[in-house]
Amino acid sequence: MYKIAVIPGDGTGPEVINEGLKVLNAVAEKKGIEFEFKHYDFGGERYRRTGETLPESAISELKEFDSIYLGAIGDPQVAPGILEKGILLNLRFSLDLYINLRPVKLYPNVWTPIKDKGPEDIDFVVVRENTEGLYIGTGGFFKKGTPDEIAVQEMISTRKGVERAIRYAFEYTQKRNKKKNLTLCGKTNVLTYSLNLWERTFNEVAKEYPDVTTDYAHVDATTMWMVKNPEWFDVIVTTNLFGDIITDLGAMIQGGMGVAAGGNLNPDKKIGMFEPIGGSAPKYTGKNVINPIAAIMAGQMMLDFIGETEAAALVEEAAMDTIAKMDSMSAGKMGMTTTEVGDSVVNYIKNK
Ligand code: IPM
Ligand code: MN
Repeated sequence: MYKIAVIPGDGTGPEVINEGLKVLNAVAEKKGIEFEFKHYDFGGERYRRTGETLPESAISELKEFDSIYLGAIGDPQVAPGILEKGILLNLRFSLDLYINLRPVKLYPNVWTPIKDKGPEDIDFVVVRENTEGLYIGTGGFFKKGTPDEIAVQEMISTRKGVERAIRYAFEYTQKRNKKKNLTLCGKTNVLTYSLNLWERTFNEVAKEYPDVTTDYAHVDATTMWMVKNPEWFDVIVTTNLFGDIITDLGAMIQGGMGVAAGGNLNPDKKIGMFEPIGGSAPKYTGKNVINPIAAIMAGQMMLDFIGETEAAALVEEAAMDTIAKMDSMSAGKMGMTTTEVGDSVVNYIKNK
């Protein structure tokens, strides 16, 4: 029995999570898996009503679950940063979800803006460090609002934090068993302290994984190669902010925000939070037009993480079957409604 906390969140989050839950229930029935879902209403609406983002008690409660299934956080009526920091980043930090795993995989029948590249070329995974770097939120203003104003925003990299992310990436590359190549994405030519620590740690840990080949690319060059030669990549490990940036590019080359999913993981404590990475898409909310494939794939990653690999494989197969029948991955252009996409994936699983 797996205990799953469900946070549908804002905008189109609840719609896509609905479809994801339909799929999880279908695969559970097929494979004899038992889920216990508990819903939480954290998000913009609750914040506007109560002034609360994520109560302290919720954090200790959420620690008891096997996984968290998250829709989207973001509300145009709330100032930027409040919900992101208060809910999403808070959960990542409080639960110490130090890996952000983001597969970039182009499925057949999905349009990519990269000319002459297909599913055989676009299939890699970004391992983004998820609890440090430029995301820790320390720094401050000095002489704020004056012509002499100074703003400081600190980038913190710890040996432990860097090493555990890198170590996970090596393990993951080994287990993925494709090209067995791990690329460190950095900026060692300018960030000569933080990224130097990353580089030294990477080279040291690499010695323990002689079967994994390694290379290095600066982050700016990485974006270039992702477009020009995406087939070069197998697994990329990188800092929090660089990972944030390159995975939006990754999402675009795999067909857009309607497809891209990610997992925030603590592999030691065996807890993860899985989400479609597309955000709350306010303008599509309530119209039954948003693409739920990313949320369904987030559920697929969750199954894989908790060890239900057969069920995960079946969900991927079912999603691919539906993707092949869709006109487009973009909201409103799918040739199907949100619920029809979910139904189609569910039917494949039932009839399998
Ligand atoms: C992401 C998002 C978040 C991030 C925002 C919403 C804080 O862009 O998950 O990639 O920057 O990590
Ligand atoms: Mn992002």
